[in-house]
Amino acid sequence: MASNDNGPALDDHQYTVAGLRSYEAIYARDFVSPGGRRTTAEIFDELTWRPGQTVLDVGCGLGGAAFMMASERGSEVYAIDLSRNMVDEAAKRCHGYGLSAQVTMVHGDILTHELPHQFDLIHSREVFLHIHDKAGLFRILRDSLKPGGTLLFTDYCCGPDQPSEAFQSYVTEFGYDLRTVDEIGTLLTDAGFGGVSAMDQTQRFIDIHHRELEELPNTDLSQADQDELRVGWLSKIDRAERGEQRWGWFQATV
Ligand SMILES: C[S@@+](CC[C@H](N)C(=O)[O-])C[C@H]1O[C@@H](n2cnc3c(N)ncnc32)[C@H](O)[C@@H]1O
Repeated sequence: MASNDNGPALDDHQYTVAGLRSYEAIYARDFVSPGGRRTTAEIFDELTWRPGQTVLDVGCGLGGAAFMMASERGSEVYAIDLSRNMVDEAAKRCHGYGLSAQVTMVHGDILTHELPHQFDLIHSREVFLHIHDKAGLFRILRDSLKPGGTLLFTDYCCGPDQPSEAFQSYVTEFGYDLRTVDEIGTLLTDAGFGGVSAMDQTQRFIDIHHRELEELPNTDLSQADQDELRVGWLSKIDRAERGEQRWGWFQATV
């Protein structure tokens, strides 16, 4: 399996320490994905939770979901992320929240990292857009689940039509690999998952981004940082309204 040597690029470009501060200000403390804590709680409500279950959090970022799974759902979480900036900060916060016994934070690439055991649940939010070898990724995730285990993730997707030049250059700038919601569903089935649910939640994505924009003036960010985020958020809303950018919610079992 080819490794994803994207880690330093992520730290130097998209997930700089300053960039993370901006993302957190708009998403919520400890979160770098749409809707922050509130949306994470809504997604968690889709599942039945069992105290003591083992969870792999792929691309844990600053750890928000991992902390919630440990403190609110009683899970034992193994959290992995390719970005040093993310995982070093997440590990500090984990210690500060007194969750080190329940959450293990590791720096690594999900494509090559040797996992310590299989898990009851794999959770991931807005991570697989960074990973080009989706078929290889889904095989690894399938093999990392116990029989009966569940994979739950959300991700940026694309629409079915030929992309505009603007959309293509956005995808290229961030090095993303975006597929349609249906293509992800098929890839999951091809990797051997069953009970595949692939839902297009783009309207929800648009609503979340409008809500975050409304909250932007209440953050402690400088005017310049707010202006930069506003431009980015309006672009995301525009791409989603034009149907080029989609948001998928996925669940599957082994
Ligand atoms: C948009 S952030 C989401 C972080 C977190 N899931 C959240 O919801 O706040 C994407 C994360 O995926 C991580 N990532 C990207 N490729 C990865 C890989 N191959 N293995 C592990 N983590 C990866 C990035 O470093 C980044 O922290």
